[in-house]
This record gives sequence, C-alpha cells and structure tokens, in this order.
Amino acid sequence: MAEAKKQSNESLSRDLNVSKMVIDTDCMTLPRFILKLQKQVPQATGEFTHLMVSIQSAVKAVSAAVRKAGIASLHGLVGTSNVQGEEVKKLDLLANELFINMLRSSYTTCALISEENEHLIQIGDKYSGKYIVCFDPLDGSSNIDCLVSIGSIFAIYKKHHEEEKGFKPDDYLRPGRQLVAAGYALYGSATMLVLATDIGGVNGFILDPTVGEFILTEPDMKIPRKGKIYSVNEGYTHQWSKGIAQYVADKKDPAKGKPYAARYVGSMVADVHRTIKYGGIFLYPATKDAPNGKLRLLYEANPMAYIIERAGGMASTGKIAILDVVPTKIHERVPVILGSALDVQECLETSEKCETNN
Ligand code: AHG
Ligand code: MN
Ligand code: MN
Repeated sequence: MAEAKKQSNESLSRDLNVSKMVIDTDCMTLPRFILKLQKQVPQATGEFTHLMVSIQSAVKAVSAAVRKAGIASLHGLVGTSNVQGEEVKKLDLLANELFINMLRSSYTTCALISEENEHLIQIGDKYSGKYIVCFDPLDGSSNIDCLVSIGSIFAIYKKHHEEEKGFKPDDYLRPGRQLVAAGYALYGSATMLVLATDIGGVNGFILDPTVGEFILTEPDMKIPRKGKIYSVNEGYTHQWSKGIAQYVADKKDPAKGKPYAARYVGSMVADVHRTIKYGGIFLYPATKDAPNGKLRLLYEANPMAYIIERAGGMASTGKIAILDVVPTKIHERVPVILGSALDVQECLETSEKCETNN
C-alpha cells in the first residue's frame, strides 16, 4: 500500500515536473524593490513608487507589442488594417502613446518630454504631480523590421518647487546630474528593465512572462573597469575628429596586446547594456555633418550617462561629463563616449593628444 502511494507520488511529481520547477516564493519584484527604497527615505510620499509602477506598465505593454509586432511585420501587417478596420499602428507611435497615457494617469507628472513629440507635453492640473519624465519610447527603431533588439529609455527630474502649481523651463532644462532616477528597458531575447537611483544603485529586473512581473536578477550592477570591445558606427570614420579616428585605429591595431573586438547593434539600449555587462566603450561622436553627434541629450545621453556613472563607468561628450551639460532646448544633441572608466579615459587622452599636436 505504502509502496503504491510512493509510486503514485513519484509519477505525479514527474508529470508536473515539480523537481525542475524552481519557484521563488519570496522574490524581489520591481514594485517591492521600489517600496523598499521608499522606506529608506523618511519624507517619501509614495509618488515616485506610483510613477515607477506606471513606467513598468508601459514597458510591459511595449514588450508585449514588440513580441506581437515581430509576428505582424513578418506577415506584412504593419500600416494595414485589421479585421475590425483598425489600423495596425507603427510600434514607435504605439510605444509613445503607451508611455504618455500611463504617465499622465499616474497623477505623478507635470511635464513629459518625448522623442516623438516636437513640443513638451504639459499635464493638466487635474492629473498633475511633481515629476518630469523625458523618454525615448522606442529606441533603435531602424531595427524593428529585422527583429533585432530594441529598447525604451527614461530619465526623471523632480521640479524645484513642489508646492507651487505648474513648472518652469529650469525644471527640465537642467544638467543630468540633477536627475532623481533613470533607466531603460531592453526588448531582447528576454525583456529586462534596468533602473538606476541615487540610493539604490543600478539594478536589473527580468520580466518573467509566466508571472507577469519584473524580478530582480542583477542586483547592484557594476561595469568592468576595462573591457575588450569597442562599439561605434565605423561607416562615419572619415567624418570623425582625428582623435576619435586615432583611438579606434589603436583599438584595432594596438602597439601591444590583442586588438579589441567590434560590436555594434545600432540600438543604443542594446549597445549600452552589453557595455555594462561585458565592459568596453560605446561611441556616437561628432561627425563633420553632425557636429553634435546624433544622440539626444535629455532622453538618450543623460539617462545612459546617469546609469553608467552609478555603475562605476564614465560618460563624456569628449570635452565634459555628459551629466554636466546644461541643455538649452529639449531635443538637443550631444556627442557620446561612454563605458568602462579606463577605456573612456584612454579615448579622452588620445583625443587631447591629437588636438594639441594640431
Ligand atoms: P531612435 O530609434 O530612437 O531614433 O534612436 C536610434 C539611435 C540609437 O539607438 C543608435 O545608437 C543610433 O541611433 C544608431 O545610429 P546610426 O544608424 O547612425 O549608427
Ligand atoms: Mn533613440
Ligand atoms: Mn526612438
């Protein structure tokens, strides 16, 4: 009798594959992690927690849309109408709508700055809160149709005078060093959300689709001091400054040691995430045609620089730290050199030497 019961338990366990199913019954979800941070700040009101939950909702929805859009684009459906006669929206527009709607309805923001909107979006008094969010709802959009990794980027400021209604230009035209948090979502082989805050450092959360939650899998992320990878669009080599051209040439053909490997996805989120994980350097420098480079300060360069610095790396325009640039307009561009501290330092030194030799 006992033997029969043991056998039936064993087969049940095999059927359910219980032995292989590892479920953490006490896992650190993203909201739980933020609530824990909130408890470390005695004057916190919970508004930041609400804000992050709304960003999390937008990211989950974009992630689902990215996975579906992959299938839709393979079937040539994007831009066409579905059976209900509704247009199948382009992913970057859909992502933008999701971010705007989730942020507005969180009652925590007074202004939104999106790559997709020419003007700042003012949030009406009814919904207004103290935060200003700058975001690139879908980064790497040229990679959507070939199913290569894409992402979303966000940066969060708190307005200077919380007690006053509305906001002023100096609440958002301010150096990235004054951000209260920044992060990105990477829609890669899995969806990961990386969040950087002053008190919590840099932490990575994987979206577990079976529970629908972001779970902390990469606590306290740190970038290696030095790497072995350089990441830049080499198509523009002949448009770079002498210093950048010399630095990249040295990486390929070093006086001593092995050459660096080249990796360039063309989605900033994917290139920066790899740089944090494996170390090395990512560059989008000035070119002759684009003297300020291509990447936008408020929602690409600043959030990434904030994350990289908190992970122990460096982020520079080639002249000053990206986080010290004072913006003069919302879609301003800035050259970007970021990554492992020793690699960025070496790039700046090579550039300086070339300039003084000129
Ligand atoms: P976006 O899709 O938001 O316009 O950004 C694309 C950006 C960035 O993700 C990437 O680093 C860079 O463009 C790639 O530009 P090149 O094609 O000039 O290399
Ligand atoms: Mn972008
Ligand atoms: Mn974009």
